[in-house]
Amino acid sequence: MARRNILTKEQPTLYKKCRPVTEFNSRLHQLLDDMKDTLALENGVGLAAPQVGVLRRAVIVLETNVPEGEEEYMIELVNPEIIETSGEQYGAEGCLSVPEEYGMVRRPMHVKVRAQDRNGETFEVEGDGLTARCFCHEIDHLEGIIFTSRCERMLSREELEAGSIEEE
Ligand code: NI
Repeated sequence: MARRNILTKEQPTLYKKCRPVTEFNSRLHQLLDDMKDTLALENGVGLAAPQVGVLRRAVIVLETNVPEGEEEYMIELVNPEIIETSGEQYGAEGCLSVPEEYGMVRRPMHVKVRAQDRNGETFEVEGDGLTARCFCHEIDHLEGIIFTSRCERMLSREELEAGSIEEE
């Protein structure tokens, strides 16, 4: 397991736009593997390359909508683009780069993404609920956008203690 250091919101790297991945080589595979290890160790639901200091368009999203008894799994998205959205959800969001702060963000309920895999093959994937939220949150990171700039309001400590919140 290789954990990479996660940048926090004070660091300017997180506000920069990321460049596309053009080489699907062992360096990219190492980055994706390290991001997955880091996400698992941090118990998060999503991680974007700029959060580990790499300004390239790659993210990991944990698919949590799995049938009972099946394992959650991580989706690798290279050069992802949102190609369809529908519905709306309004809920609490957090970020591994913004520890212990949560806020209410409006996102689509369903999101379809087109991306490349680690070998450069194009594919499409759909997500609902938390997964849809996570696709949007992580792809925002690639544009240098942190969820706090999309928050309608931050949550108080009492509200945080009242409910369970996932980190992205
Ligand atoms: Ni985040």
